[in-house]
Amino acid sequence: MFPKNTWYVACAAHDIDTKPLGRKICNESIVFYRDDNGQVAAVEDFCPHRGAPLSLGYVCKGKLVCGYHGLEMGRDGKTIAMPGQRVQGFPAIKSYPVQERYGFIWVWTGDAERADPALIPHMEWYDNPEWAYGGGLYHVKADYRLMIDNLMDLTHETYVHATSIGQPEIDETPCKTVVNGDEVVTSRFMENIPAPPFWRAALRAKGLADDVPVDRWQICRFTPPSHVMIEVGVAHAGHGGYDAPAEHKVYSVVVDFITPETDTSMWYHWGMARKFNPQDTALTDQIREGQGKIFGEDLEMLERQQANLSAFPERKLLKLNIDAGGVQARRVIDRLISTEQAPQV
Ligand code: FES
Ligand SMILES: [Fe+2]
Repeated sequence: MFPKNTWYVACAAHDIDTKPLGRKICNESIVFYRDDNGQVAAVEDFCPHRGAPLSLGYVCKGKLVCGYHGLEMGRDGKTIAMPGQRVQGFPAIKSYPVQERYGFIWVWTGDAERADPALIPHMEWYDNPEWAYGGGLYHVKADYRLMIDNLMDLTHETYVHATSIGQPEIDETPCKTVVNGDEVVTSRFMENIPAPPFWRAALRAKGLADDVPVDRWQICRFTPPSHVMIEVGVAHAGHGGYDAPAEHKVYSVVVDFITPETDTSMWYHWGMARKFNPQDTALTDQIREGQGKIFGEDLEMLERQQANLSAFPERKLLKLNIDAGGVQARRVIDRLISTEQAPQV
């Protein structure tokens, strides 16, 4: 179950160049391509002639052409032409509002009239010389809400990511969850602790000592439908922690756009926007590689968890203190879904 009247990240902007891209999002098969102005278009991945996937076709002079018998599809879902045929009576297929922003393609899966580009959240780090961004994509065979649970409860780092960002102090420090309207924030502040390997490397990259005690923070922020931005970092202990001046800390935002594919699978766009050494592209690559490995460690856990949940759907699960962030985020999602499904007056 997922909200439909909302913008989801469909893919990275560079994923669509000269070829169409087929991708299922919220159980809808969609094909994305660029028209002759370079503007992204999105229509159902279903040819009105015989139902072939249009994503198996090609783009010719900005028109999407079916790879089976050459039907030319317009960005509004209306057939433009087909060799040897009159196409006026062909049924239209669905077209989707789509926007290119912050290096991603965003698609609106619900009522097209309600698609307002102003609802796409602002990403401060994009095209900003003070920040650098690197990221990637994983396809995960699990309900997208399991990833939200995972990211809103970072105690799992101690176990799943023991060699990189995990440390026992995470478990030992209670977290606090606050709900502000549709936003859920779970935060944890750890003081005077050793930095784990990932953060030691970040301190070294910035020319800071990596063998002194640090203050560490994790502030996980969920916003609908399924974005989780996590402020993370460490500062040399005693300089103000999260509020320490820039020269004493390394600070990043873990960027997570979690897009449902089906009820039990998702497209997970992960990345890190960092506010230190932004010009260092080798560091961007190194962090991307490290983060890719770390998030890879979550995948098996989530996919096997999904398999268990699918096998035993009636089993009741516990909701502990550490689960508060995910539980509250699910409440927001449930509320949005029930609002969408309520009869319109
Ligand atoms: S199925 Fe697409 S043109 Fe025939
Ligand atoms: Fe994780």
